[in-house]
Amino acid sequence: MCGIVGYIGHQKACPILIDGLLKLEYRGYDSAGVSTIENNYISNMKDMGRVKNLYNLDGINDLEGSIGIAHTRWATHGKPSKENSHPHMDNSNTFSVVHNGIIENYQELRSFLTSNGYTFKSATDTEVIPNLVHYYFNKDVNNDNKKFLRAVHSACMDLKGSYAIEIICSEFPDCMIVARKDSPLVIGVGEKEKFISSDIPAILSFTKNFYLLNDGDIVQLHTDSIYFYDKNLTPISKDLKNIEWDASAAEKDGYEDYMLKEIYEQPRSVRETIGSTIKAGSLVNFSEINISKEYLSNINNIYIVACGTAMYAGLSAKSLIENLCKLPVCIDIASEFRYRNPIIDEKTLCIYVTQSGETADTIAALKLAKSKGAKTLAISNVIGSSITREADYTIYTHAGPEIAVASTKAFTAQVTLLSVLAIYFAEILGSASNERINTLKTEILSLPSKIEQILELSEEVKSFAHKVYTEHDIFFLGRGTDYAVSMEGSLKLKEISYIHSEAYAAGELKHGPIALIENGITVIGIITSPNLVEKTVSNIQEVITRGAKTFIITSEDIENHNYDKVIKIPKTDSMLSPILSVIPLQLFAYYISKEKGLDVDKPRNLAKSVTVE
Ligand code: AGP
Repeated sequence: MCGIVGYIGHQKACPILIDGLLKLEYRGYDSAGVSTIENNYISNMKDMGRVKNLYNLDGINDLEGSIGIAHTRWATHGKPSKENSHPHMDNSNTFSVVHNGIIENYQELRSFLTSNGYTFKSATDTEVIPNLVHYYFNKDVNNDNKKFLRAVHSACMDLKGSYAIEIICSEFPDCMIVARKDSPLVIGVGEKEKFISSDIPAILSFTKNFYLLNDGDIVQLHTDSIYFYDKNLTPISKDLKNIEWDASAAEKDGYEDYMLKEIYEQPRSVRETIGSTIKAGSLVNFSEINISKEYLSNINNIYIVACGTAMYAGLSAKSLIENLCKLPVCIDIASEFRYRNPIIDEKTLCIYVTQSGETADTIAALKLAKSKGAKTLAISNVIGSSITREADYTIYTHAGPEIAVASTKAFTAQVTLLSVLAIYFAEILGSASNERINTLKTEILSLPSKIEQILELSEEVKSFAHKVYTEHDIFFLGRGTDYAVSMEGSLKLKEISYIHSEAYAAGELKHGPIALIENGITVIGIITSPNLVEKTVSNIQEVITRGAKTFIITSEDIENHNYDKVIKIPKTDSMLSPILSVIPLQLFAYYISKEKGLDVDKPRNLAKSVTVE
């Protein structure tokens, strides 16, 4: 997820562009750049690092142009570097483009353009766009005032994936073309000037009047006019909306907190993490790694090593990896693994899950595994993070920057990616049936829409949170993958509400913990595994008979045995269910924290990334 800003009007563009980028840094901040049209040529200044570093670039303060585009990056393809920073230009420096999103077919387009004589300077998916626009611009023999628009439209028709783009052209120095599909883009309207941005915060200080673009829209902007078209290049009209947000609310897209925003981003972040790995009729594609059948066939076991939520993501995926790959999977806490002298060797594959890629214990655990001859695979949300420079292999979640300390969208993205990885391994090993694999692929592709359905139940979760937020102890129960997700739910609650909580394998209750159950205590039960429903229901009955209040999250048709609240979630494969059953648990923790008036995004004593032991 990146942030883009554009300006066309009567003022110097550069200061407005950088001001906008500073307000969008929460969307990405590993590199930044600005392009402006200066006397009919395009100046393009960019570098890795924070937005404020742009002010150190030679000549940045001399830019006089009144039309420009700018970008602050969250790397998805290509590590943070000057070459991979946006804006990107075509080979002839006629066009400059900034892009937010992921072009899933960029490799095919790159090959096509290369065969037509184009060269590439970066490792990004975005760089295909300016060259594709140039390709169509050159092919178009009509030199009328819509030639630029047609070239952009033709290029967009070739793009698969998500994009919000702003493009300027040195041969059309009085206009800008913008377009969007699956990534947000808004146009602010001032007095003979237009402001364009990924979302409202970046430009709210300049105007309160906005056009909100829909998928497929393509727009030609001038200082004092604007022309809207649909995906067929048919002219359309749009209503100008007045937005009365304050700047702080707008930074969170109107959500009260980053955590709530990130909970609601999960349909997109899961969809973008799946990306182009799963396509109907094809094997799973992880272009960034190439693990051989010979290597995998000689593996005796797999370790998944991580901390906190990332470790629970590994625990949530354990069953699926074992079930598909017929390999034992050991889940370990990184701070334990690194001091336990684990029995691993070249026949062990060690997977390290880490949102930040900077967690000291996880990095140290990876180095230990390498010293023992094991191959290491890192799963991170930050391209170019420290762990990715140590691991033998790296694959990425595409959750976008996660600002709230409590991890939500990173967890579902991690479990999703681990699930896809399990299929990838099984296809290489031939260790699962095509029927099982195809059923799982279909289920994984349906997860984003199922998450959207669950988010519609938030008010029900909120009402139960209101009943129990004063409690001092809350228990979570589950079996199988429901046990794994109950531990993540318990961690969420502890982190942001400061309520003591414990998660138990439901079958463990009678071995001691049930002594803690007394009248009025709250127990949350997760029930999504069809073959374990009866067992877990009977465990829940044991706590009800001892006076507990119960909050049940289930995908099954269970009879309502006087539960206090039941949240019915969509069915999926029980080995994928943590990706869905965690959503109500995230909302539950969030609403309890809000009821207690706590700082949801920055809980006491916690840091977003634990870079020390
Ligand atoms: C999760 O809500 C916490 N913020 C914490 O447990 C976190 O998951 C853990 O510190 C691991 O961080 P990482 O994924 O960046 O390695």
